[in-house]
Amino acid sequence: MSSPTGGPVTGRPLVRGTDSVPRATVTDTVRVLARVLGPNVAQGVIARRPAVVRLAQRWQLDAGVVAETARLRRRYGRGPLRLRVPGRELALVLDAEDVHRVLGGTPDPFTPANAEKRAALGQFQPHGVLVSRGADRTSRRRVNEHALDTGHPVHGDAEAIVAAVRAEVDGLLTDADDLTWDAAHRAWRRAVRRVVLGEQARDDVHVHTLMDRLRARANWSFLAPRDRRTRAALRDRLAVHVDRAGPGSLAARLRDADPDGGTDVLDQIPQWLFAADPALMVAHRALALLAIDPDARERARRQMAEVADHTAPLLPQVRAAVLESARLWPTTPLILRDTTEATTWATGSVPAGAGLLVVATFLHRDESREPTAHRFAPENWLSPDGGSLDETAHDHRPLVPFSEGPASCPGQDLVLLMTSTWIAAVLARHEVVARTAVALDPASLPASLSPFDLAFDLTGR
Ligand code: HEM
Repeated sequence: MSSPTGGPVTGRPLVRGTDSVPRATVTDTVRVLARVLGPNVAQGVIARRPAVVRLAQRWQLDAGVVAETARLRRRYGRGPLRLRVPGRELALVLDAEDVHRVLGGTPDPFTPANAEKRAALGQFQPHGVLVSRGADRTSRRRVNEHALDTGHPVHGDAEAIVAAVRAEVDGLLTDADDLTWDAAHRAWRRAVRRVVLGEQARDDVHVHTLMDRLRARANWSFLAPRDRRTRAALRDRLAVHVDRAGPGSLAARLRDADPDGGTDVLDQIPQWLFAADPALMVAHRALALLAIDPDARERARRQMAEVADHTAPLLPQVRAAVLESARLWPTTPLILRDTTEATTWATGSVPAGAGLLVVATFLHRDESREPTAHRFAPENWLSPDGGSLDETAHDHRPLVPFSEGPASCPGQDLVLLMTSTWIAAVLARHEVVARTAVALDPASLPASLSPFDLAFDLTGR
């Protein structure tokens, strides 16, 4: 049986107005708040709270996110599914075709600069591209793409980037017999400051301290008043670095991207600094995937050996492990959009100004639809011979760890370059054994995996 748009009909809308898409009952709305949105908000949307992430792992809360969303999909059909939240129109986007439509239809009629995000990110980047609209979005996206060299798997400044990451891994692992999150995080942030702000910023820990303060507030979205003094201090410090940044840094590229000074370039940088933390989470978990899968590790090492003298190797097998890590444990588990006008769907309409929620965790792990749901499947991202990345390998299944469409992550290539360099630098010299409180079986991976409680025993090779 087919829906009017040709998709399979998997459920019957139970509660429906005349022309509205299905509406969840009050009880189901409460369940969504408790089991889907609650766990994500509690863990910290902008800055993770390690203690809560630890609890999420202990109770495997992401399994509840998937089960609850799958139940709603069975109960109400393809959606979108409107919730009954007082004072805010919200709908879950449950269908693959609709997910592609929403992400592809950005920024109009589905703007990424949605109400909750503007309130949260306004703490430290009110003029960041992600919370911009109209002509501002266009120019800010352009400078981001220029600095991040979007669309190029090997960044134009890869030599400096790779050298900075390798140097920090070398410093980190000399004489080390294990690799903990805290140690990795300190070294990673040093590498990030070098790459983003330039060599002179390597030891400027304060820039991250200011960011952390603002991110902690941003977690509270509308509820926290703006901390203007900290934001001003952050901007001052970023301005000094942008002035001093030498060639090879993103800050230098950013400076050159806007010669007439018409774009608020400084406000683009906080996104890069803050998004680099999830990049390490993804890398740390990807290292665990390679640690528990000897065949994948062997394939990765074979590619590493083939390109040993390359300045900036592509390393598709390692990159695929990173992408799998981001699929299995997405660091943007909810992708948000607001409708800029009333929109029509197969099951009815959604009014203008409604928030749309794409639950990436559900899309990536729904075992009734995602054939690789809980297993480590690097082939999702690889050409059949494993020799290159191929994002069409997952067909039309919405695997969207970096989102997709016009507001998809412009930093994806850079993230893959930095994280694959990081992982390869560890694997080149060490055998790694993962230590965690949850069982890690590549054929059946846990729904929640705390990066903060993941460590590795290291032995020389
Ligand atoms: C594992 C690491 C990362 C992941 C999984 C990730 C994922 C994402 C996702 C899902 C979005 C879309 C968010 C939305 O639509 O609400 C996004 C946007 C963005 N990301 Fe990343 N990101 C990562 C790291 C980075 C890094 C390191 C940078 C920069 C150096 C970066 C730069 C950006 C920017 C500028 C946007 C806004 C794009 C726009 O609005 O047009 N990201 N990212």
